[in-house]
Amino acid sequence: MSETAELRVGDKTLELNVIEGSEGEKAIDITKLRAQTGYITLDPGYANSGSCQSAITFIDGEEGILRYRGIPIEELSAQSNFMEVCYLLIHGKLPTETELSDYEDTIRRHTMLHEDFKQMFSALPKDAHPMAACSTMVGALSTFYPDSLDPRDPEEVEISANRLIAKLPTLAAYAYNHSIGMPFLYPQNDLDYVGNFLRMMFGNPCEDFEVDPVVRNALDLLFILHAEHEQNCSTSTTRLVGSSMVNLFGTISAAINALWGPLHGGANQSVIEMLEAIHEEGTSPRDYLERAKSGDESARLMGFGHRVYKNFDPRAKVIKKACDDVLERMGIHSPLLEIAKELEEITLKDDYFVERKLYPNVDFYSGVIYNAIGTPANMFTAMFAIGRLPGWIAQWKELHSDPAFKIGRPRQVYTGPTKTAYTPMDQR
Ligand code: ACO
Repeated sequence: MSETAELRVGDKTLELNVIEGSEGEKAIDITKLRAQTGYITLDPGYANSGSCQSAITFIDGEEGILRYRGIPIEELSAQSNFMEVCYLLIHGKLPTETELSDYEDTIRRHTMLHEDFKQMFSALPKDAHPMAACSTMVGALSTFYPDSLDPRDPEEVEISANRLIAKLPTLAAYAYNHSIGMPFLYPQNDLDYVGNFLRMMFGNPCEDFEVDPVVRNALDLLFILHAEHEQNCSTSTTRLVGSSMVNLFGTISAAINALWGPLHGGANQSVIEMLEAIHEEGTSPRDYLERAKSGDESARLMGFGHRVYKNFDPRAKVIKKACDDVLERMGIHSPLLEIAKELEEITLKDDYFVERKLYPNVDFYSGVIYNAIGTPANMFTAMFAIGRLPGWIAQWKELHSDPAFKIGRPRQVYTGPTKTAYTPMDQR
């Protein structure tokens, strides 16, 4: 017999079904709660609320486990590549050799942008944040592709998904080039996905660009590690916006904005800015830590803490090692990496952080790698967005194929004034 839970509200007792996931996670199904009792649940920040059932990503925050479609992140980062991970997430299985090469060819064929995008970029101020530029331009894609906006048409969805995966690196590179006054390079489709992006970012039309394999592999790894993370802020945004039946471009534009915030993907930029400030001001990591503990919001230890991981973030482990490798192979000595390591070491022994289960998250070391490969800080979150895109698309597709699909519409507990008569202007 399947498990149930009982809830007593006033003089009513309600029997609620317990849903069990494939890894033994349990949830109390409250879908009939309001209809049967008139009550709702209240859960600010949704820390205890499941919004969907999903077969894409499994996370165990206590054990530090992360798996995409069942495959551990450690195995994917050691053996796979970003294009394969895109396929895995979006199509639900690892591709055969032919499927992967067909997929790569398709993505390559869509990397170019409509020529009018150049004018759109030139209309943006030079100091526009790349995340603002990316979300604007991704939203604008919907105006260029009215032929593929129907969320109910699988072919239109597939072509939109391919266009997004192919074009976001081009848009992100153009956002950067616009900010520094460099000409835009057309994609060069004999390069692979990451190599192409690096050339569009850092190349110029006057010289050949050679893709550094160390940099290429480091970025590919970062994209894999960022590719999906179940119902975080930007992914929940994807599901909520997508549930209104708006097209995929409009949805992803909203997700990019959600990712931009410093408490979410924007933390990677904040981490490097924090490390630079510590370095430039000559503050000791210990002193900075004390400020972070005092509750001074301007000194929050960026890159530490996670809503789900309460032991360690498995992505941070992989990145920390990659960070050491990349810097060593590039022959870079980074004082920022030294500060990061010292901060990590003292933090992990500090009662404040231990009691609150605050560990380095994915963003703590990723910024050091981005920095070492020559990426300006304001581009870090745009790189994160390129990585997270297949996860958003996979979640959007799953939402639309869910038999329990409904527009997302949370409730609230109203705490404002009770019925109040309108006061005419001359009596106020
Ligand atoms: N530095 C100092 N104190 C912290 C930090 C931190 N980085 N993170 C949490 N705390 C403290 C809080 O002040 C709170 O203390 P209190 O109980 O005394 O009030 C306690 O730890 C619990 O923190 P919450 O903010 O309630 O935890 P929540 O789960 O809501 O927030 C979050 C998680 C937003 C990630 C938070 O840890 C944070 O702001 N970290 C820094 C920003 C960051 O690195 N974000 C990236 C997350 S990963 C990602 O999105 C890709």
